[in-house]
Amino acid sequence: QANPEARFKQQAGEHAASLVQSGMVVGLGTGSTAIFATRKIAVRLQTGDLQGIVAIATSRATDDTARALGIPMLADDIPREIDITIDGADEVDPAMDLIKGGGGALLREKIVAEASRLEVIVVDEGKLSPRLGTHWPLPVEVLEFGWRSQVRFLESLGAAVTPRPGNGGLFRTDQGNLILDSRFGPINNPLELAGKLEARAGIIGHGLFIGIASDLVVAGNDGIRHLQR
Ligand code: A5P
Repeated sequence: QANPEARFKQQAGEHAASLVQSGMVVGLGTGSTAIFATRKIAVRLQTGDLQGIVAIATSRATDDTARALGIPMLADDIPREIDITIDGADEVDPAMDLIKGGGGALLREKIVAEASRLEVIVVDEGKLSPRLGTHWPLPVEVLEFGWRSQVRFLESLGAAVTPRPGNGGLFRTDQGNLILDSRFGPINNPLELAGKLEARAGIIGHGLFIGIASDLVVAGNDGIRHLQR
């Protein structure tokens, strides 16, 4: 691939796919990096290199893709602990905390991540950031009812808020909620901000993933690095 970013995404995704072992319950992430892991897992199943896995997707889109690739999928429940989940991120700080949700799948991604023994985050080196919020707005998932009051609440916390546009109107998550992309700039205390968001009625989820990633696979000009918490 001519585009180095796309090549790095592929390298990170495929490296993480090699961590999956036969018999595991596997969480499949969402986005253009995680898809490389999903595709590689499908190839490993086809060649017999991997056997007896079952997977759960972090979005309807990933579920459709994985089924089309012949990966055995669980329905909408998580009957036992997930052994390993491979997912992307929009921004990663030096503590391995994340902003996720560029694809709008943040809530299912967090549910799957919190049910996983290993949460392996796959990124190209362009996602690394000294402080969360520097490069990327924080996606906040809100109930449609009263959503403009959430815009004012987020503004009162210092964010510039853009309701995410979608097909002929506003973007809808897999749960039918809205996303408010909230540009805070560099976030000094992500844990404190997460607490404020989680205490607010009508906010269903947010893209801050704090202390959730167990592993980070970064691909860049210097090759592939695998970091563990
Ligand atoms: C999906 O909701 C996101 O959390 C993705 O994991 C994130 O946006 C990374 O996507 P890319 O791998 O496409 O950059």
